[in-house]
Amino acid sequence: MQIQRSHTVRVLVVYYTQTKNTELVAKGIYEEVMSLDHDVELMKLNSIEPGFLDGFDLVFIGSACHDGDLAKPVLRFLEELSPSPSFKMAGFVTHSAYKAEWGKRREELYERWAGKCEPSFIGPCNDKNIDFLGYFHCLGAPIPEVADFIRREIIHDEDEWIEYINEVQSHPNAADIQDAKDFAAKMVNKYE
Ligand SMILES: Cc1cc2nc3c(=O)[nH]c(=O)nc-3n(C[C@H](O)[C@H](O)[C@H](O)COP(=O)(O)O)c2cc1C
Repeated sequence: MQIQRSHTVRVLVVYYTQTKNTELVAKGIYEEVMSLDHDVELMKLNSIEPGFLDGFDLVFIGSACHDGDLAKPVLRFLEELSPSPSFKMAGFVTHSAYKAEWGKRREELYERWAGKCEPSFIGPCNDKNIDFLGYFHCLGAPIPEVADFIRREIIHDEDEWIEYINEVQSHPNAADIQDAKDFAAKMVNKYE
């Protein structure tokens, strides 16, 4: 039996990274879209202008989480997009906060440290009539300065700290990249 594919989707994966965690996720998304036989490009956010997005059907935008929100260059980039473009959007983030679904205390910390990221994609998309298809996020190991800050300001309990730092240091791991790939496939499917 031959499986009929509707058409090739022109996909852009664009990301902002400082320490490469978000880049790993971006590459996973890129590889998945490529394996599905769509046209896909992978670009760093600071190498393009917002108008570059106009030639695409589906744009994945990725960001490191800074100060509880998307990184400033990503917020600016979203602000500069023209209204009612031809592309649809999906967002992804790496952050050092826990994942919200891991219990009450962790949910609170997630909200405080990374909770603004998803709304910061959705707000500009609503304002600009951009179809936002979905959001993916996973942990990304903090650089030592950020880990020190978390230890000093946020996680004071020694046992909680040891559990936290042991967990976060390994991310994004193979399971995160697989989750990102599953997300990418779902977004492309939703687009079609
Ligand atoms: C300046 C700075 C601020 C950060 N602020 C947060 C934050 O508010 N919440 C959070 O969960 N992680 C924060 N982090 C951790 C990063 O979001 C995390 O390590 C992420 O995976 C980094 O992505 P990148 O390697 O792609 O730059 C911060 C990191 C830096 C360098």
